[in-house]
Amino acid sequence: MSIGIDKIGFATAKYRLDMADLAVARDTDPNKYSLGLMLDSLSIAPITEDIVTLGAAAAEQILTKEDKATIDMVIVATETSIDQSKAAAVFIHGLLGIQPFARSFEIKEACYSATAALNYAKLHVTAQAASKVLVIASDIAKYGIKTSGEPTQGAGAVAMLVTNQPRILTFNDDNVAQTRDVMDFWRPNYSTTPFVQGIFSTKQYLDCLKTTWAEYQKRYQGKLEDFAAFCFHIPYPKLARKGLNKLLDKSLSQEKTGQIKANFEASISYSRQIGNIYTGSLYLGLLSLLEKSQSLKAGDKIGFFSYGSGAVSEIFSGQLVAGFEQMLNPDQQASLEKRQRLSVEDYEKLFFEEAQLDDQGNAEFENYATHSFALERIEHHQRLYKRN
Ligand code: HMG
Repeated sequence: MSIGIDKIGFATAKYRLDMADLAVARDTDPNKYSLGLMLDSLSIAPITEDIVTLGAAAAEQILTKEDKATIDMVIVATETSIDQSKAAAVFIHGLLGIQPFARSFEIKEACYSATAALNYAKLHVTAQAASKVLVIASDIAKYGIKTSGEPTQGAGAVAMLVTNQPRILTFNDDNVAQTRDVMDFWRPNYSTTPFVQGIFSTKQYLDCLKTTWAEYQKRYQGKLEDFAAFCFHIPYPKLARKGLNKLLDKSLSQEKTGQIKANFEASISYSRQIGNIYTGSLYLGLLSLLEKSQSLKAGDKIGFFSYGSGAVSEIFSGQLVAGFEQMLNPDQQASLEKRQRLSVEDYEKLFFEEAQLDDQGNAEFENYATHSFALERIEHHQRLYKRN
C-alpha cells in the first residue's frame, strides 16, 4: 500500500504588511529583514479571519463533493486555538459539509503537530485503505508590536488530503522523531502572545536538526545525495537556510549541491511573502517547492524537517508521484499578489484587535476582507461563521 498526500491546498489572509514599511516604522535597517531574516512581507489576518476560516478556505479549494462524502477523519493542527474545549476541526467539518460519520479533533505541539497529524492519518489509512483523512495546519503567528518576534509573524493554513494511492507524494517509512523539554518558545493559557527566548530557540532548532539528522542517517543509512530537495520548518527563511547549510557537506557533488540549493530557494518563496504560519510552515515550504521548482520530477525523494518549540522535531521523507504537477494551483502566486497592503498604523490596529463582548457575550465586527469564510459575529459567546 502507498499512502501519502493526494491533494494540498493553501489559504492566507487578504492583507499584507511589507517589511520595508515595518523597517521604517521600527527605525531598523531594511536589510536586517530582507537579508538578515530573508522576509519581504507578512500576511496579516483581521479579527474576522481565524484558524477556522483559514483552515476551511484551504480545504474548500481542494475538496470535491465525493471527497466530502468519503472523508472519515478531520484533524486540525494548531497552536492558536479559538476554544479550550471545542475543536476547530468540528467547526470546519460543519462549514465544509463533510459526511457525519467522521472523527474530528484538534492537536497541539507548537509548530510540530501537523507532522503528528500526518502520521496518525497514515496509520488510519493503513488500517482502512478506502479512508480519506483531511489534515489541516492552521495558525496565526502573533508576537506583539515592537517585540523581537514581530518581523516573523504571519497567518495561513495548509490543508492536505491523505489517502491510499496519492497523486502528489507517497510517505516513506523512515520517520525519526526527537523530544527535548526546553523553554525556547511557549504561550501560557493567560497570554495572547508567546514568550520566546529568540536566540536560544534558533540554537534549539539547529541542534534538533543536527541530532535528528545524525540519528536518521544511522537508522536508515540516509545520505543527502539521495534527496532532490529538503523542506524545513520555516519560522523565517534565513534560519531554514542555516539548517540546510548544516546538512550540506563537501562530499556532495557540485551538481547535487546546486540542485538542492535551487530547490531550497523554491521552497522558501511563499514563506518570504507570508511569514511564519507555525504548524503549516513546513508544508507551505513543500507547496512552494512543488509550485516553484524548475527541476522536480516523478520519483524524486523529498526530505522534511519538522520542528515545534518545546521541543519536538522529526525527519522523514516522501517520493513524488508521476503527474503531481497537475494537482497544483497555477494561480497561487497571483492571489498572493492581490493581498491589500496595510500601513504600519493599520496593521497595528487590524492584527491586534480584540472582540469587545457586551454583558450577554455578543460582539459585532467591521466588514473586513476574508477568504471564502468569515467569523460573522459572536452571539452569547458562540462564534458564528459564514460562507462569503
Ligand atoms: P533579531 O533581534 O532580529 O536577531 O531576532 P539578530 O539581531 O540576530 O538579527 C537576525 C539576523 O539579521 C542576523 O543574521 C543578523 O546578522 C542579521 P545571522 O547572524 O542570524 O545570520 N542582520 C542584518 N543583516 C543585514 N543587514 C543588517 C542586519 N542587521 C542584522 N543591517 C529572532 C531574531 C529570530 C531571535 C527574532 O525574530 C525572534 O525572536 N523570532 C521569534 C522566534 C523564532 O522565530 N525562532 C526560530 C526558532 S524556534 C521555531 O522555529 C519555532 C517557532 O516557529 C514556534 C513554534 O514552534 O511554535 C518559532
